Amino acid sequence: MKTTDRLSELRAKAALGGGEQRIGQQHAKGKLTARERVDLLLDDGSFTELDAFVLARPTELIPDDERVMGDGVITGFGRIDGRLVYVFSQDFTVFGGSLAEAHAAKICKVMDLAVRNGAPIIGLNDSGGARIQEGVVSLGGYADIFLRNVLASGVVPQISAIMGPCAGGAVYSPAITDFVAMVRDTSYMFVTGPNVVKTVTHEDVTFDELGGADVHARRSGVAHFESEDEAACAALIRRLVGFLPSNNLDPAPIARSDDPPDREDPALDRIVPDVATKPYDMKDVIRRVVDDADVLEVHEGWAQNIICAFARLDGRSIGVVAQQPTVLAGVLDIDASVKAARFVRFCDAFNIPLLTFVDVPGFLPGTAQEHGGIIRNGAKLLYAYAEATVPKLTVITRKAYGGAYDVMSSKHIRGDYNVAWPSAEIAVMGPEGAVNVIYREELAKAGDQDERRRQLAAEYVERFANPYVAAARGYVDDVIEPRETRRKLVAALRSLAGKRDTNPRRKHGNIPL
Ligand code: HXC
Repeated sequence: MKTTDRLSELRAKAALGGGEQRIGQQHAKGKLTARERVDLLLDDGSFTELDAFVLARPTELIPDDERVMGDGVITGFGRIDGRLVYVFSQDFTVFGGSLAEAHAAKICKVMDLAVRNGAPIIGLNDSGGARIQEGVVSLGGYADIFLRNVLASGVVPQISAIMGPCAGGAVYSPAITDFVAMVRDTSYMFVTGPNVVKTVTHEDVTFDELGGADVHARRSGVAHFESEDEAACAALIRRLVGFLPSNNLDPAPIARSDDPPDREDPALDRIVPDVATKPYDMKDVIRRVVDDADVLEVHEGWAQNIICAFARLDGRSIGVVAQQPTVLAGVLDIDASVKAARFVRFCDAFNIPLLTFVDVPGFLPGTAQEHGGIIRNGAKLLYAYAEATVPKLTVITRKAYGGAYDVMSSKHIRGDYNVAWPSAEIAVMGPEGAVNVIYREELAKAGDQDERRRQLAAEYVERFANPYVAAARGYVDDVIEPRETRRKLVAALRSLAGKRDTNPRRKHGNIPL
């Protein structure tokens, strides 16, 4: 046999992974194969495979003829919109995509290359966790990956797509990465599957109820993105990568746009209702301010009282954090604090400027929040904003009350350009609460308490709950007309292009986890 024939034969064999029958089963479940996924993710023809001929290490429990080339994972590098990325894609047709020594070594190799060459690493996960037949060696393999996930954190973006039932170690590695994307109806994440749950807790639970995409994208917050199918998931990851720099030293790509940097939007002048308790959609504000109304939300379905999103201003990637007045009046609770804190830290790690829109009545009161640790969790957001040294732009659209005023990228924690709309109310607390505290005796004596309370609240708003008290102190740099927000922000962002700010030298801070 010619040597090239032998090569072709081996390649063809490696390409089949666990064989045609298992590929058929994979398709029958509505899932693509590991190779089909890589093709969907990367620019056409850009994939260079590494280690296709790697074999599983010999073990007593797996006969030699069952050791499949590639050992259940496809690894290599390719391009997204012409930019280098490293990829691994687990092959469920080989021992359920389970992770063994050789499989882990292949993943570690591409992770090391990604860090060394300053490019994102994208994992397409479809795995039953540690390969049972290889025992502790598999556990060691996972630990090797976890360590690399941690060391790569903040150095190159790490993105995980969950594309099948992922259990055990197969969920802990994604959990350390920056973004987790799941596919509805075919992807699951759990530490232990329904069978083990039944044995331990006697709970009857389906795959979906335990760890489906809806659960993690809406309830647990484990997943940042949820897609209808694998093609949509791949498209989403490509879009996400477009907002990100390749590493912590490179700038994010500039996306030229025809949206004029000085565009005014008169509709913004009418967006905040006259009645302070009436909601409005902050997403509308964001879309009207950023380039081309192009916004990619992160954690769209979870903690919807706060919005975290990537967008661009003047062609530059920015991270937008904003209260959503239509959900729980935009209050800061445990989930919202944790969601935004992690997003702020990601942006800071990768030099992506932050734009914050503030309309916050405060932290959510009550036993559920206090007992759940709102103090500890709210402190995460405060910590994240305070330590961030990227350009920080802040627009107070309406309420900025209490501790939440301080937290939300205020001047005091190194906000670079802080402005308020004329509708802003910046004070220790809202008028009702404030009047009840400071005028308690007077209210008790009043004949018509409700009427007196209304009068006092109106006086309070006039005296304290407006932007001019803060502006008089320089706590906001300006009070601007809503219509000119984009122009003002673009000018500020340009002025901050050379911003240099550092934190004291130390091993690392101690964020209240
Ligand atoms: C070896 C495995 C495997 C594993 C699945 N397979 N998981 N082989 N090691 N961990 C094999 C199955 O035997 C089967 O082979 C094939 O993959 C497909 O699996 P099915 O069960 O038929 O598929 P499905 O019904 O879709 O269920 C998928 C699954 C389930 C939910 C992932 O297989 C499962 O519960 N697996 C075990 C999960 C787990 O507990 N892993 C260990 C976690 S501990 P055949 O030949 O029959 O087709 C861990 C520790 C890491 O990971 C450290 C963390 C900190």
